[in-house]
Amino acid sequence: MQDLKIVGTAAYVPPLTVSNDDLTTLMDTSDEWITSRTGIRQRHISQGENTSELAVKVGQKLLAQTGYSADQIDLIIVATMSPDAYTPSTAAIVQGKLGAANAVAFDLSAACSGFVFALETAKNILKASAGTTALVIGAEVLSKLVDWHDRSTAVLFGDGAGGVLLTTEERATPLVAGSDLRTMGQLNDKIVAGATTSGTSFPKQVTGLTSFTMAGRDVYKFATNEVPKSIHRAAQKAGIEVEQIDYFLLHQANARIIKQIAKRLAQPLAKFPLNIDEYGNTAAASEPILLNDVVNAGKLKPGMTVAMSGFGGGLSVGTLILNF
Ligand code: ACO
Repeated sequence: MQDLKIVGTAAYVPPLTVSNDDLTTLMDTSDEWITSRTGIRQRHISQGENTSELAVKVGQKLLAQTGYSADQIDLIIVATMSPDAYTPSTAAIVQGKLGAANAVAFDLSAACSGFVFALETAKNILKASAGTTALVIGAEVLSKLVDWHDRSTAVLFGDGAGGVLLTTEERATPLVAGSDLRTMGQLNDKIVAGATTSGTSFPKQVTGLTSFTMAGRDVYKFATNEVPKSIHRAAQKAGIEVEQIDYFLLHQANARIIKQIAKRLAQPLAKFPLNIDEYGNTAAASEPILLNDVVNAGKLKPGMTVAMSGFGGGLSVGTLILNF
């Protein structure tokens, strides 16, 4: 059957690393608190590179690695909650800088579920159109939305980008065997960043964006309850048992959340790769950076089944069951 294949993965993180100890000079926190509550040891922070620049680096790596030329790309989706601007879209900037003149390009905003939502969207667009090839990139410069004196959020986030090159090919099993995407908009106020105000007087002033606020405990409960349910629903649609999944690539928000999800699914922790210690929570970039790490570590073999789950702002949750 004609279906899709991930022919390349890539990631880029800015070179500056900021350790937990470095943060103690800015706020009342400690390496012990951050490590024990979240599993984070450091994060990469952009110095002047904006979200599109991180995404362009990932796009360039994907083209170089796979041998595809920019004009072969039909679709570019950038999942981000920290775009360069409201307009142009970050994806349009990426399309222009890559010289991907034949690609339609747009952003997808679903916070930490963004990459999973974008991969499912790209799959559906390619299947419904004459296009064959897509770049799906998750990219974030969250450091520009963080209040660097608010210890309740500042310790959690990092910058980075990752992505995949998808193309159609003849294969025995579909790339996406099952999916489950959900939005719980009644909980929209649980994670907010970059909010604007409309202003009551006229003429209006252009005002700045707000920094992160998060109801951490509520999001923790949401993730540990909803992600296992989402994985079960997606596995059911794929016609498999959770036990048949080789790896669970979960959004890297908090190592404790991931351990709790593993427990609820009654699956060994060895099936849940972690890289949050190095990158922190990079929202939409977290899943493709993790996928790239797992691929580069040689862990993914053809024939393996992977559950990829994102969760976060919206609130939102999404799972794809992927055949490699
Ligand atoms: N350093 C030291 N102490 C701290 C820090 C810090 N960085 N942050 C909070 N504290 C203190 C609090 O003030 C509180 O002190 P008190 O007991 O004296 O009042 C105490 O530590 C406990 O605070 P809690 O917020 O209850 O800590 P909790 O154990 O819930 O951990 C955390 C907080 C890590 C944020 C956790 O709730 C969590 O991971 N939530 C989920 C986050 C998540 O998954 N986000 C994903 C989505 S993000 C997105 O979509 C963009």
